[in-house]
Order: sequence, then structure tokens, then C-alpha cells
Amino acid sequence: MEKMWAGRFQKPENEQVNDFNSSIRIDSRMYREDILGSIAHAEMLAACKILEEADVVKITEGLRAILSDLEENRIAIDPAAEDIHMWVEAELTGRIGDAGKRLHTARSRNDQVALDTRLYLTGRIDAIKRETCALIETLIGIAEANSDAIMPGYTHLQRAQPIAFSHHVMAYAQMLLRDVERLNDCRKRTAISPLGSAALAGTTYPIDRRTVAAKLGMQGVCRNSIDGVSDRDFVAELAFDLALLMTHLSRFSEEIIAWCSWEFKFIELDDAYATGSSIMPQKKNPDIAELVRGKTGRAYGNLIAVLTMLKGLPLAYNKDMQEDKELIFDSVDTVLQCLPIFRDMVATATVLKENMARAAEKGFINATDCADYLVGKGLPFRTAYKITGRLVADCIASGKTLGQLTMEEWKAADAHFEEDIYDAIDMQTCVGRRTSEGGASFAAVARQIAETKQVLDTLR
Ligand code: ARG
Repeated sequence: MEKMWAGRFQKPENEQVNDFNSSIRIDSRMYREDILGSIAHAEMLAACKILEEADVVKITEGLRAILSDLEENRIAIDPAAEDIHMWVEAELTGRIGDAGKRLHTARSRNDQVALDTRLYLTGRIDAIKRETCALIETLIGIAEANSDAIMPGYTHLQRAQPIAFSHHVMAYAQMLLRDVERLNDCRKRTAISPLGSAALAGTTYPIDRRTVAAKLGMQGVCRNSIDGVSDRDFVAELAFDLALLMTHLSRFSEEIIAWCSWEFKFIELDDAYATGSSIMPQKKNPDIAELVRGKTGRAYGNLIAVLTMLKGLPLAYNKDMQEDKELIFDSVDTVLQCLPIFRDMVATATVLKENMARAAEKGFINATDCADYLVGKGLPFRTAYKITGRLVADCIASGKTLGQLTMEEWKAADAHFEEDIYDAIDMQTCVGRRTSEGGASFAAVARQIAETKQVLDTLR
């Protein structure tokens, strides 16, 4: 196929150069955005009397026909085309002749590709938001269905203090909620139209940028044509938002992997969401969680690659920028692949409350409450801390839990201990008393869930 830019050249392009230069394999997925952007552009050209109405009717009808032919698989995109923009224009001109050659008036591929990418990513942001909100809802459901479960809370992966299991689950809901907020914010800066920036300097034609932007559902137009064609901040920003979202899924995955082990056994994955071993008949492996954790590296790599691609670029457009799409599309695909399967995996898992409760009994996670008990009897916290520490050391030596100490043993440690110490260090009491706002008690978690639901409603 002859290049549209062939006029200036004396030789055809080397075939390898064509392959190297072509982005069609990556950007053909934006055919819809490219066509809708061109339709809006052409309609504006007619409204502003830059093109004849009759030509624009041919253009828009031709473009709509190409769109439906593609969507109904009647035609295929030529894999040898330079990019989606060139292919659509060539296909249009092939169909309607000279009118097709007028479409590119007052436009460059530089503002066109920026527009297509922004439109496409805006749609993907919405899809990712929907999936993330659905996961948050699932987590709320799990928290509510297991509202009485107690588990050890950890620091340094050492049992620390007893918490409501729902509180732990809701911690992830909060991270994901911020991810949705970040995506909303990123969307605001993505849904801005660069169209009319043309190659870099705007155009001599009397165009109307705002009407095109509004027609395409965008929130406004970029203020500077040079920035309009060189800005890929929205790509970097989305790459970061997705990298952080994957970080959250990866941390959760790590815990799920640990919780599935015999060492923890806090949850059991549904058979449909686990895999077996080719050699060890007893194995049930959390492959989904491991893959989500593993794929997180891609999201990081894509972010770094986008930033690195941009860092040395002079204004305005440079071909380096073509690389942005392969990277951000991979992040988008990865996240959209991970979110639903991750949600199904957690939604179908069984929470083994008894095992969590048993783990909570060991590890002296009520020691802080024991010290707090003495503080309640008037002792300074540091003194109470030391007395409790000695008791813990004695218990470790004798293989007991604090709850198994006799009244004599308590009294021997400190005269302030009374019968009510047993209730004070009971796990239910320990969790129940952490009623501070955002704390681990059942009551505080119920308030947290109610608030989270409200925020979630405002974000959709
Ligand atoms: N395929 C190109 C890209 O993705 C489109 C823009 C080409 N512009 C140019 N001046 N060569 O960036």
C-alpha cells in the first residue's frame, strides 16, 4: 500500500522499517474511538463551514459503515497498515473517494492519537472502577457474613492483638476505595480533548474545539496545543494508579496464600478456584492469588517504562510516544483480568473461624489488655507493661496461656489482680473494647462498614 506521506519520498519504505514503525498490532483496538473521533471532527468541519455538507455526509456515513463492518466482522484491519489512523482513513477513501481525503483537514495524527488514547483509556478507567467497586462490595459482604469472627492481628507477622476478622478484610476495602478515588481523579485529567492542537501549533482553520470535545463526552479541551500533543501525564498517572491497585491486590494475595497454608489454615479456597499438583496428590494450591501477585510486576514495569520513555523527550510529538499504548494497555488488561477472578476467588472461599479463634488464643495477644487492666487499677503503664512481660515469660516457660494462670499465680505477680482479670483478657472482651473510631471492635467495624457503603455510593 502506498504511504499517505509518499509524496516527499523517492523510494518506497524498507519492509523491515514498515514493520518496526507500525503500531497497528497495538492500536487497532482503538478503532472505535478513532472512528467516533473522526465523525465528531468531520461534523465540526461542516458546522464551521470548513468542509461542504455533502462531503461530510459521505465521510460520516462511510465511517459509520466501516465501524459496523468491523463490529460485525465483515472486514478485517490490514495488519500491514502503519497505524489505526492511517488504516481508517485509507479504508474510507477507498470507499468514498475524494471526500475521504478531506477528513484530515485541520487535524494531525498527533492530536488524533492523543484523542483516541484518551477516549479509549477513559472507557477502561470506567470499567476498572466498576470492577473495583464490585470487589469492595464483595469484601463488605464477607465482613458482614463473618462479623463475629476473631483473628490475631499481626505486626512483623508476629501475633500482636486480637481483632475482628471483618476489620482486617475492611482494611483492604479502604485501600481499594482510595484506588477508585484515584481513578476518578485520573479520569478528570484524561477526558480532556487535545483535538485541534493539530501537529503542534493549532491550525489556521476556524475550528470549534469545544463542541467536538462535548460531543465526545469529554470534560474540556487542553489549553496549549504543544502540551496537547506531547502530554502523556494521563498515561503515567493511570499506570501508577494501576500499579498501586495491583500492589493492594498483591498484598491481599500474599495473605490469602499464607492463610491457605497448613501453618495458618484461616481460609479454604473453593475447589473451582484452586489447582492441584502433577505429582503431590495432597496439594491444593492458591495459583490465582500467586498469579495476581506475580502479575503485579508487569504493572510496575509498565509504569517505569512510561516514565522513562517520557523523561528525555523534547517538545512536542516524538515517535517514542507510540510506545505508551503497548505499556498502558498491558496494565489495563492485567488489572481487568485480575479483578474479577480475584473477586470470585474470595467470594467463594470458606472462612475457618474456629482456626482463627484458636490461633488468637495462642501468642499472648491479650498481653496489652492485661497491662491495660493494671493501668485501670491505678498502675503506670510502664510498670504494668513490665509485670505483664514477666508473666508472659513465666507462661512461656510453663507452657501456659495467660488465661490458664491460677488466681494465686496472678496474685503472686501483682496484688492488684482480681477475679475479673479472666474476663479482661478474654478475646471477646479484648476485641470488644477496641471501640475507638476506626478500631478493631465489632461495633467500630459496623460503623466503618456503614460509612464505607456511603462513600462507595458517592464514587459510582
Ligand atoms: N502511531 C502513532 C503513535 O501511536 C500515531 C502518531 C504518529 N504521528 C507522527 N507524527 N508520526 O504515536
